[in-house]
Amino acid sequence: MHTDWWTDAAVYQIYPRSFADSNGDGIGDLRGITSRVPYLAALGVNAVWLSPFYPSALADGGYDVDDYRAVDPRLGTLDDFDEMVWTLHAAHIKLIIDIVPNHSSNRHRWFTEALGSSKGSPARERYIFRDGTGPDGSQPPSDWQSIFGGSAWTRVPDGQWYLHMFAPEQPDLNWDNPEVRDDFLTTLRFWSDRAVDGFRVDVAHGLAKDLTEPFLPAAHLPDLAEADGAHPLWDRDEVHDIYTEWRNVFDEYDPPRMAVAEACVHPTRRIRYARADGLGQAFNFDLLEAAWSAEEFRVRINAHLVEAETSAASATWVLSNHDVVRHATRYGLPGTEQTPREVAMAWLLSNGTHPRLDPALGLRRAKAATLLMLALPGSAYLYQGEELGLHEVGDLPDNVLQDPEFHRSNGTRKGRDGCRVPIPWSDHEPSFGFSEETPHLPQPAWFATYAVQAEERDPDSTLELYRRALALRTKLSSHGFTWADEDRPDVLHFIRPGGWHCVANFSPEPVSLPRGTVLVASSPPVDDQLPPETTAWILTSHESGGGGDVRG
Ligand code: NOJ
Ligand code: CA
Repeated sequence: MHTDWWTDAAVYQIYPRSFADSNGDGIGDLRGITSRVPYLAALGVNAVWLSPFYPSALADGGYDVDDYRAVDPRLGTLDDFDEMVWTLHAAHIKLIIDIVPNHSSNRHRWFTEALGSSKGSPARERYIFRDGTGPDGSQPPSDWQSIFGGSAWTRVPDGQWYLHMFAPEQPDLNWDNPEVRDDFLTTLRFWSDRAVDGFRVDVAHGLAKDLTEPFLPAAHLPDLAEADGAHPLWDRDEVHDIYTEWRNVFDEYDPPRMAVAEACVHPTRRIRYARADGLGQAFNFDLLEAAWSAEEFRVRINAHLVEAETSAASATWVLSNHDVVRHATRYGLPGTEQTPREVAMAWLLSNGTHPRLDPALGLRRAKAATLLMLALPGSAYLYQGEELGLHEVGDLPDNVLQDPEFHRSNGTRKGRDGCRVPIPWSDHEPSFGFSEETPHLPQPAWFATYAVQAEERDPDSTLELYRRALALRTKLSSHGFTWADEDRPDVLHFIRPGGWHCVANFSPEPVSLPRGTVLVASSPPVDDQLPPETTAWILTSHESGGGGDVRG
């Protein structure tokens, strides 16, 4: 069976400003990435997803794009970009770039033009401008709130208001305007012509909006979890017409370019984004939201595999990315009535003091969860630094925080800087080999223990575990998954083709392993017993389980 490369790829996300700095200005850059391609090749990933590298004032970490067809001069040049692509490809690593179509930055040429033009002008029609309410129009057109906090509308000097579902520096584009649509097709071709293999589509569920007035008050907006396409701002059915156009562009190339949607929608609607005549793949954040619990993992894995099978889309798995508290930290925080995300946010807000983090337990579980994820059929998305077992930096002082989520929420949310601290490459200061200079976010002293250099010397390090697992994963078949009969509710055991077993022990007790060869384990097995909070891959002989369908 022919399988497209992206249906079962291990994809490594690079947040470029925090990966590797080649010119000593404290900011990671494209040449830094190029210099680390041997590291990525040794890690064994199939593709890189590069977060935005475009010119940007960094009002939202680069997700505020000034120019979609250029490189931020602080990160390099188009020539540097070409060299990076060439070097990745020479190492057999594909490149997926982030594209941000829901909003541009307020420094985009179009927005400057809109501000300099009059009400009702074509320049304003590229964005969403409306008159205000109240006798003098001094109140926003609606009471909608932006995702980062505060009103979703900002007033401009002539009295009109523009919509921004994120920061005010991120005006939402008007996707009813053919000029906006065409310009993005030009951008997709621009990067595809430069040999980019695919696109990660930011806020893919946001582009189409129904802005017929009167606007519904926020309290009357449908719950997105139930919305079924009825929400005026998110996950509207018409959004897929846009992606059909994009698919036509992707298919102009050989091989066709791939795309993966960031679609924060109800799981039952996610599949629309992953349709073959649309973007082709969508992130599944269900595991990322799960608590450390065999039952939660089982239910979510099963639901997603059934969804993938019935819709013929590839499954995707994510445990960490640049928007959430790192999974080593999440799993080291105690379970409460709150969701794991809420617990992690509270911990961050307390500067990493409450509730108490057990870093060793968190890392042990994180390694087990990753090994489980890497054994599942589908694509696995990894976030830079997780292969080192990095924890979230919980105690960044307020005065270094960059995330608009912190500032716009008046400090009631700490934001996402703690997972964006530059990577430690060596165990000595300054900046642990990231840069010759002070990094743009400060690294804690404990990063030394997690540095690449330190972990390369230690055969039991997290890095070595990732390398072993990723190398073995290339031998795993893309298809076939069966749950094994397992009488312990706190153990997950499944079989992949060729007698390949994955056993994940979520319990605090050791459990017996199936008979066979242990290929890799997240902590060493003792006397044929799988230790607590550990996952192992075992090859059993004389068996060819796992070829069958998904079973509940
Ligand atoms: C999702 C991105 O992952 C996040 O970092 C960003 O803030 C928002 N989209 C807005 O672009
Ligand atoms: Ca630099």
